[in-house]
Amino acid sequence: MGRILNERTSALKIVVVGTGFVGLPHAAVLAEQGHEVWACDIDPARITAYQSGDAAQIERYVNEPGLAASVAESLGRHLFFSTDLAAAAPGAEVFFMCINTPPNRDGSTDLSYYRSAAETLAGILAGRADGRRVVVVNKSTVPIGTARLLEQILEGAGCRGVGVASNPEFLAQGNAIDGSRRPDRVVVGADREPDFELLRRVYPQFQHHVRIRYLETTPETAESIKYVGNTLLLTYISFWNGVGARISEALPNVRMEDLKLGVTADSRISTWGSYVSNGAGGSCFGKDIQSLIYQLNMTGQSTDLLQAVFNINEYQKTYLIDRAVHEAGFGFNQTTVALLGLAFKKRTNDMRDSAALKAVESLLGRGVRAIRAYDPLAMDEARQRWFNPDQNHLFERISYHDSAEEAMEGADAIFISTDWEEFRGLAPLIRAYAKPPCLVIDGRRMIADYPELTAAGYGYLPVGGPYLPPTQPA
Ligand code: UGA
Repeated sequence: MGRILNERTSALKIVVVGTGFVGLPHAAVLAEQGHEVWACDIDPARITAYQSGDAAQIERYVNEPGLAASVAESLGRHLFFSTDLAAAAPGAEVFFMCINTPPNRDGSTDLSYYRSAAETLAGILAGRADGRRVVVVNKSTVPIGTARLLEQILEGAGCRGVGVASNPEFLAQGNAIDGSRRPDRVVVGADREPDFELLRRVYPQFQHHVRIRYLETTPETAESIKYVGNTLLLTYISFWNGVGARISEALPNVRMEDLKLGVTADSRISTWGSYVSNGAGGSCFGKDIQSLIYQLNMTGQSTDLLQAVFNINEYQKTYLIDRAVHEAGFGFNQTTVALLGLAFKKRTNDMRDSAALKAVESLLGRGVRAIRAYDPLAMDEARQRWFNPDQNHLFERISYHDSAEEAMEGADAIFISTDWEEFRGLAPLIRAYAKPPCLVIDGRRMIADYPELTAAGYGYLPVGGPYLPPTQPA
């Protein structure tokens, strides 16, 4: 990756506040551009891990392709880590707020971490000696109107010459570094020209770009773009899961792949979302749509469509287990189930809102004897979630395995929950490790050679297709 800002004059000193999934990749890519980036976090263990430059230590916190290499490349030259925000701030002109904003039970957003970081920063900026204009930019997803809240916090602390802006991140996990280097769009919401100008200096490489849309607007519009974008993406997924997949499952002779090809060949219709699954997980979609529902409800607006989209997606996470009972006549009681894939999608160890979490609840509720879990990356996270028997004594029924083969041994049913590439060629391994009439439940349509399975006495139940019983008796 070539450095864009070779002249020291065009590089900025930038502080990134918060170094999680949003802050760390953002800081790394800003540093690649030649800016002097100080990434700050209140968690000393994180900062020590990042400062080591060691891939394994960095990936314990944020596991993204290319991230550790990017951090190691810039460390100590363009990229610095610190727990001391006050020491990092002098001379910086742009501050990115990359603070976690978890959901409350009612769908609203818990802004307590955000507020506390904003207040700390406001105190530091209020006491600054130079009169140079600085801008504080909200990067992580925050409710519409949070830039205004930030303005109040800064003014309340007595800050002068400090602008606010919204520059939402649109990263998909597993693609954070490439996505930051080559985004589809950069959205900047601000009120004043000097603040827009500072952000243009942050992103000179995206100005007048032929492909990348650089949109300047109001802070509230920028904040809304993030929520509406994520909600539309989840609507696409729920449309395909709730309509396309259901038609192909319930009506004879409708082929899911052909249906998808035929519909998405219309240039007005995107192919994104047409990949049917056992529901979309991750830390963003569910939380953002719930937050948007909450925000609209507060204004008295109807949220029927959004609620339906959310419900379809949640239902989808256990729908295949219900289908196994009703269509394949599979009683889960006292059976052993291999659960393949725990992360919410491939190439990440993140299990937040993962379909596998809901599947485990449903399987335990149906009285399974054992769940044999395997994921290429998420085993540590899974143990942390489930290994605590005080939480739910049924979790003792979950065992943790080093490979799909090992997890499948002795299984009565196999549930593929994540789209890891290694699950694609699974049919021969299933035949080698699980005995027929084992039921293969495919939440990701990974097994193209399923006729090989049904011919060998296995049942096959895919999302987006009818249940196929064994063609040969086991
Ligand atoms: C999502 C959005 O795609 C990003 O644009 C957004 O910036 C991000 O949330 C965020 O708000 O931070 P992410 O959650 O990382 O990104 O993952 P996606 O690739 O969008 O996948 C979400 C879920 O939908 C996964 O479980 C995935 O397997 C599933 N999915 C995706 C489908 O079931 N079908 C599809 O066609 C696409």
